[in-house]
Amino acid sequence: MDRKKFLVTASLAAFSISACANVKVDGESSKAEEPEGEGEGKLVGQCATTNDILGPFYRENAPDRSDLTFDGLTGSIVQVKGRVLAEDCISPVKDALIEIWHCDTEGDYDNDTDQYLHRGVQTTSKTGEYSFKTILPGKYLNGRLYRPAHIHFRITSPTSKELVSQIYFMGDPHITEDPWASQDKAADRIRPVILEDVKGNLVVNFDVYTTASEE
Ligand SMILES: [Fe+2]
Repeated sequence: MDRKKFLVTASLAAFSISACANVKVDGESSKAEEPEGEGEGKLVGQCATTNDILGPFYRENAPDRSDLTFDGLTGSIVQVKGRVLAEDCISPVKDALIEIWHCDTEGDYDNDTDQYLHRGVQTTSKTGEYSFKTILPGKYLNGRLYRPAHIHFRITSPTSKELVSQIYFMGDPHITEDPWASQDKAADRIRPVILEDVKGNLVVNFDVYTTASEE
């Protein structure tokens, strides 16, 4: 297909999708008419990110860094990024501390080295954004079952309650039997791993919706 024909076809396809998406069924607005963004359009408090277990491998004093990769690292590099948002589901939370930790591809956590491997904390920008360059973690046994691959999160800020949570990855066969990932409340935290560009770079998007502190 030549470029001109491709562009015309693509335009028609886009129009077709747009037209279909605006059809109303039984008086209900289609999803396409909702504001963009997962939290926008929801009532205050309705978008709050659900919590998950801290787990036994949390370490305090993780280094302030956005790049968790290092020489000799094995695994699929991925950018884990998103925004930290307030209880109104829209306003960014700046200067929030967002911390992640996860195991390596063998399922092991760094529990004792000075390198704090696969651990990092950073402060959100004025638009609430954060971004970590790391790897997709492996899996470890919890009893007789593997826990699905996951990344732990801890978010604190002066204006919101502490949130401890985890994300999982869409298509992981170990999610259904995991006591935590299989809960309904974890559904929004099972994230797709996206091929972001023509170079095959991987991205996982995860926006964090906080709950206002009571003070
Ligand atoms: Fe874990």
